[in-house]
Amino acid sequence: MATTRNLTASEVFDLVRSDLQKVEEEFSQQTVSSVRPITEIGQYLHLNGGKRIRPALVLLSCKMCGYEGASALRLGSVVELLHTATLVHDDVIDQAEIRRGHPSTNSRWGNHTSVLAGDWLYMQAFNIALAERNFKILDLLIGLTQVMVEGELLQLNRLRKLDISEDEYFEVAYRKTACLFSACLRLGALLAGRSEEEEIKLGAYGADLGLAFQLVDDVLDFISSEDVLGKPIGSDLREGKVTLPLIYLLQKCRPEEAKKISCVLEEGGFHTVKFSEILELVEQYGTLRLARSKAQKLAERARSCLEGFPDSQYKDALRSLPEFIVERDS
Ligand code: IPE
Ligand code: IPE
Ligand code: MG
Ligand code: MG
Repeated sequence: MATTRNLTASEVFDLVRSDLQKVEEEFSQQTVSSVRPITEIGQYLHLNGGKRIRPALVLLSCKMCGYEGASALRLGSVVELLHTATLVHDDVIDQAEIRRGHPSTNSRWGNHTSVLAGDWLYMQAFNIALAERNFKILDLLIGLTQVMVEGELLQLNRLRKLDISEDEYFEVAYRKTACLFSACLRLGALLAGRSEEEEIKLGAYGADLGLAFQLVDDVLDFISSEDVLGKPIGSDLREGKVTLPLIYLLQKCRPEEAKKISCVLEEGGFHTVKFSEILELVEQYGTLRLARSKAQKLAERARSCLEGFPDSQYKDALRSLPEFIVERDS
């Protein structure tokens, strides 16, 4: 009889380690162009890669659904290309200088080149996806990219506003992060030819996992460090983003404390009010803890979406992942 057990993070990673290496090779080959700046930026982004969570999700989903072919590797690279393109554009919009512990593309090559490189990366992702000759996959990826762009636009629209609601926050988080996580999981079901019902369940798992991931990213923006995170902390509020720990804080704090937040938003940085004062407030009112416990609930809901799938080590891996995501510190 099959049994379920919790895996450690390195056991989960071991299950996809060799395939992730192949995804790296795909990514490297796919970011080459006859126009030099594209290849230069592509190699820069490849060598200074991130955690590769999205390709790992594609691979685990494929494996759990029983698909083992080369399309898993290609689509693993496609989702990382899409993610990378959004980060390149996001850093232009946010005027971010550091990404993954190195100068961001925009600070090295400037905004103009970075916007075009981001466009090229999007199109390259679709080129590769097109080779699958599978309309369901194209539908999913094209729809997803529009949702992500709309998310960035909604976020721009809510920038520097103190009255953002919890629902608006979750809508932006779904669009900019969770939707891609969801697509990664659905790709596994699509490649394996599983039922629509299973595809939807896996998509729901991915969406909840992605929301939890974004929530934790927003918590880490307060309490982590640039060394660990690879990007400066306190960036969200400096950039005008009122994230969940602050939304909860604003529901609880006194008017003069809320004024400190609006002061940072108005000044576009920690000038009159220091970052440490805001940190003290979110700690004092326990709203970082509240945001993390919300992430915990989403992680539990994600796990429950896996019920009904046959037991396997890959299912164990997907069951174990939400906890790592919530407890991560980088
Ligand atoms: C960063 O995503 C953007 C968010 C969705 C918060 P990751 O934290 O997965 O970035 P990398 O790819 O590992 O750098
Ligand atoms: C997430 O937005 C980036 C995208 C998914 C486009 P953020 O602006 O919060 O991401 P970081 O914090 O810069 O990585
Ligand atoms: Mg950003
Ligand atoms: Mg962030």
